[in-house]
Amino acid sequence: MLYLKNISYHPAATPHPIIENINLQLPLQKLGLIVGTSGSGKTTLLEILAGLAQKTSGQILWGTEELTSVELQQLSGIVFQFPERHFCGSNILEELRLGHPELSTERVKEALTEVGLDHLSYDTAPNALSGGQQRRLSLAVQLIRQPNILLLDEPTAGLDWLMKENLVNLLSRLKKHWTLLIVTHDASDLVDIADNCWRMVNGKIESVNPDVFNLKKKEKIIVDKW
Ligand SMILES: Nc1ncnc2c1ncn2[C@@H]1O[C@H](COP(=O)(O)OP(=O)(O)O)[C@@H](O)[C@H]1O
Ligand SMILES: [Mg+2]
Repeated sequence: MLYLKNISYHPAATPHPIIENINLQLPLQKLGLIVGTSGSGKTTLLEILAGLAQKTSGQILWGTEELTSVELQQLSGIVFQFPERHFCGSNILEELRLGHPELSTERVKEALTEVGLDHLSYDTAPNALSGGQQRRLSLAVQLIRQPNILLLDEPTAGLDWLMKENLVNLLSRLKKHWTLLIVTHDASDLVDIADNCWRMVNGKIESVNPDVFNLKKKEKIIVDKW
């Protein structure tokens, strides 16, 4: 179980905390979904959980063990909203083998198959991929690292409906083996596969029943039909 206890993030330069007193529990092999408008603090929270930003106060625990930023970097794998800013390899194979030079071609193929990119040539440059493919490659990089918790920032943003559907199916399969925490501004694509949902407003979160978003989704479908 992942526990967040009273997590706050308040840089000295900002008048108000960006993250305020967040409490959350996410069981293993469950998919947690945090829904919030732009600027509500979603990316900042993921950066804290990935060990990339330092919380001002509170505790992050994995079971009973409190985690430092370095431990969080090992435990978590983050898929950024714009992964192209973080690619280092000159092609897909290099990207997947960063930090794992010994990685066999079988394992490379397995990881790419898992994310639906096995049809691509290994010497394709990451920057030549579409936005959806880049997010999938970034996910494959994390799957190879085998983190305990996968953090995804707006995984469906900017994808067409078919790519969205493929990605949602993939995430739904992944939760059989992994613990996932996803942040998004649009609940409609992901609410059906979420086990736990929270709403984030101005750096605070509250637990909500996934049906709240499902109702909105149904309303949207009815409106779309007109
Ligand atoms: N290190 C920082 N210093 C000052 N302001 C920050 C810092 N990090 C994020 N912010 C601000 O915090 C708010 C939340 O940002 P963000 O986490 O990116 O929200 P979201 O991902 O929900 O759009 C924004 O207003 C952003 O400008
Ligand atoms: Mg964001």
